[in-house]
Amino acid sequence: MDYAIETAPLDTLTCDCLIVGVYQNQILGASAGIANQNTQGLIDKILGRGDISGKIGETVLINAIPSSSIERILLVGLGENQALSAKNYRKALLAAATSLKKTPIKSVVCSLAECTVTAADWQWKTRQIVEVFSDAAYQFTACKTNKETESQLEKLSVIAPEADLDLAQSGLRQGQAIADGINLTKHLADLPGNICTPSFLAEQAFELGKKYPSLAVSVLEEADMEKLGMGALLSVSRGSRQPAKLITLNYQGGEKNAKPIVLIGKGLTFDAGGISLKPGLGMDEMKYDMCGGASVLGTMLAAAQMQLPLNIVGLVPSSENMPDGDANKPGDILTSMSGKTIEVLNTDAEGRLLLCDTLTYAEKFTPDVVIDMATLTGACLVALGRVPSGLLGNNDALCNDLLAASETAIDSLWRLPLWEEYQEQLKSNFADLANIGGKDAGTITAACFLSQFAENFHWAHLDIAGTAWRTGPNKGATGRPVPLLSQYLINRAYG
Ligand code: BES
Ligand code: MN
Ligand code: ZN
Repeated sequence: MDYAIETAPLDTLTCDCLIVGVYQNQILGASAGIANQNTQGLIDKILGRGDISGKIGETVLINAIPSSSIERILLVGLGENQALSAKNYRKALLAAATSLKKTPIKSVVCSLAECTVTAADWQWKTRQIVEVFSDAAYQFTACKTNKETESQLEKLSVIAPEADLDLAQSGLRQGQAIADGINLTKHLADLPGNICTPSFLAEQAFELGKKYPSLAVSVLEEADMEKLGMGALLSVSRGSRQPAKLITLNYQGGEKNAKPIVLIGKGLTFDAGGISLKPGLGMDEMKYDMCGGASVLGTMLAAAQMQLPLNIVGLVPSSENMPDGDANKPGDILTSMSGKTIEVLNTDAEGRLLLCDTLTYAEKFTPDVVIDMATLTGACLVALGRVPSGLLGNNDALCNDLLAASETAIDSLWRLPLWEEYQEQLKSNFADLANIGGKDAGTITAACFLSQFAENFHWAHLDIAGTAWRTGPNKGATGRPVPLLSQYLINRAYG
């Protein structure tokens, strides 16, 4: 899709559809007022008939405008005539974008950035338009014979006043970069496990490096990991015919000696559970167990496209977790790269086995902070549902920065405690620690496990088990937490 800022007056525009906002009690937004005048009161007439009351998210498409170069007008309800909350603004945008699906509309001009949104500037409002419209237009067609999508949108223009042009332009650029990152993440995540293998993910990372020369990509093979002593990571891939990969993406946009922000993403391209085999129902969704890794790739893309003045390292440990004659068995004891020994009490708690060696490996980059993201625990769904991602960490400042970014990005997080009392649950009779902590507080004990490998740096962990994809009839990847991470990086760069 092409994106642009439009500063020309409404009556000079040519497009398939103009989007304008209307409030309750028949109050027109600024652009709706102008469009109403240009059409001899057409919008007033429609409001007067009661076809739209103006509640948030209502839409009416006027699909013929007499003698106008604007072919259609989409009215979008904005609620009471007052400042919108950020969430309601996004709700209105999503309603607008959704209502254009299954229409032949190719070029759209959107005036909704003119509405007042609490604590938002033109940059944020423009960015959200790009993100929401791109999100709505996404459809996974790679494995369908018929690749037609419901959305035919090719061009989206955002109306902005001359005075705010710079902010709108930079919001547009950021929005495009973040939307491209989200699209990559969703695409990789939606691909099935037989196509998206660890080797495929590694190839995709190399492709990304070709497209963005500022990203230096390298991959550790199993033999390299063997030399590093990554016994925990390798124990998982031993049960799979697909070789494990540890992908590194190095982005050097900052000062040469500035310590990097390290992002780590769990990249299980399929998690069958191993010998502790998962039940069959919904097991297909375990193709999404690489969503953390995919969001690292997506965020690195966004950072490179925005040319952020930061140093960022992305690490994606990738493997399958399968039952096999050579797979981990309950009771097996592994030696991790850190030297700590781990008793595998459940082979389905494999994500932490990949992540712990990757955390140890991250030390070599002398990180400023390390943030990992992982579809780590079903318990996170029980605790928090599918609304926020879980946040745990060993540094309050880092956690607070992430919480602030999540609010701005509307990509919510909820912090859970990482108190040392919980560490008790990981005690093993036979090794330094066990890989599971029993049935209580599963998300916290998983993070406790990771924390034992993150003692030498500021670290935060995002459990995205409930937020990385949607289940049910609308099954599909969400691209979260790319918006949140992109916002965190923007704040670190310019905040
Ligand atoms: N990838 C799963 C976690 C998961 C399950 C995410 C369902 C989203 C939906 C992870 O590897 C796993 O299997 N975790 C186990 C841990 C348990 C054995 C301590 C779990 O959550 O059941
Ligand atoms: Mn598992
Ligand atoms: Zn898993």
